Amino acid sequence: MTNIVIIGAQWGDEGKGKIVDLMSEKADVVVRFQGGNNAGHTLVVNGITYKLSLLPSGIVRGKLSVVGNGVVVDPWALREEIGRICALGTEVTPDVLKISDQATLILPLHRELDQMSEAAAGKGKIGTTGRGIGPAYQDKVARRAIRVGDLAEKETLSGKVDNLLLFHNALRKGWGQPEIKKEDVMAQLEEISGFILPFAVPAWKILSQQLKQGKKLLFEGAQATMLDNDFGTYPFVTSSNTIAGQAAVGSGVGMKEIDKVIGVVKAYTTRVGSGPFPTELFDADADRIREVGHEFGTVTGRPRRCGWFDAVLVRQAIVVNGVENLAVMKLDVLDQFDEIKVCVGYEYKGRKLDYYPMQMNAQAEVKPIYETLPGWKTSTYGVRDYEKLPENAKKYIERLETLLEVKIGMISTSPEREDTVIRIDPYEK
Ligand code: IMP
Repeated sequence: MTNIVIIGAQWGDEGKGKIVDLMSEKADVVVRFQGGNNAGHTLVVNGITYKLSLLPSGIVRGKLSVVGNGVVVDPWALREEIGRICALGTEVTPDVLKISDQATLILPLHRELDQMSEAAAGKGKIGTTGRGIGPAYQDKVARRAIRVGDLAEKETLSGKVDNLLLFHNALRKGWGQPEIKKEDVMAQLEEISGFILPFAVPAWKILSQQLKQGKKLLFEGAQATMLDNDFGTYPFVTSSNTIAGQAAVGSGVGMKEIDKVIGVVKAYTTRVGSGPFPTELFDADADRIREVGHEFGTVTGRPRRCGWFDAVLVRQAIVVNGVENLAVMKLDVLDQFDEIKVCVGYEYKGRKLDYYPMQMNAQAEVKPIYETLPGWKTSTYGVRDYEKLPENAKKYIERLETLLEVKIGMISTSPEREDTVIRIDPYEK
């Protein structure tokens, strides 16, 4: 029995969806444990492209898919997503999709507040996805959120909405926004509860039963370590903990059940939204990475910021997640570069640093110290066998292993799931 957590070790969009999809063949249950529909996981299965936001990637393969208590759920967005996925021929029924009744709901007022506070922040904005993720988590922590299962208890719902609006209307008043009427929120909840409640279950209990039956759980992280609310580039982060430890908290599975953590990185680095990014490029190399790597956001369509691989950040991510092996994605995007750089340390105020400091100015001002490796100038697109990679590509991979002190178990060379070099199968080792 192997229960595995997959997390992003950079700023998201590493290609976790492909790795989860690849591994879901051997897993029985796929579990989301944080985030919401800010995530964008692209899967290509039998030539069909699936863009998932809230649904666990296992859904496409008919695996039991669980949305844990740590997730924030926008039921309207979910209804729309299920509609899209069903139109591609995938069945999404309460038999395969289970949503924790303890998960927090994202309401239209959260989406509006997310967009309002971003607009008010002007230059200091975080560059959120505008999906209401932050405001929903704020309400959760402040103990005034409406949770999925609350929709089933009509006698307490009205009081919960009163409590929620007491806060939100005071805030809106301060911002010169019109008040939200209770009857409107009640009508929204009434309208959506028939859709969401059939999926609502005590997910921790379902997962416990699965474990007792010896089923393999695959935990699908969203966003990534550098967007983690504690360990990321705060305040330019998301509002949840994205690291592997959250898999237990956000699903109700005891931490001793988790056997392994796999980190996913790109062969370079990207970021969407604002915030520091030491190895960011602003030249033709950035344009080339963006074009070859199709680096535009799945959720928002925004062009992603692109730069070289940052071994300092990834080393940090390996530590805080307890990563055992890495998957390196999109190696083929670097195929035509003469030289490839890797950040191996930082310089800050005349000092060398071997970690990323937490202060905002320091994070923005550290200068990367680069090591330059020769490119391979040969296509690696679709290569599935490590020995068939060009020598310099192997040297690149092996240099990363030395710098990061972990083994690179998988290397992806195209969006297709079969186009993956598997050096260490997480289910076999
Ligand atoms: P939020 O999660 O919408 O609040 O956005 C906070 C930050 O996280 C912004 O910089 C977003 O661009 C980033 N972010 C959120 N979800 C993702 C994701 O799935 N991939 C990459 N970046 C993300």
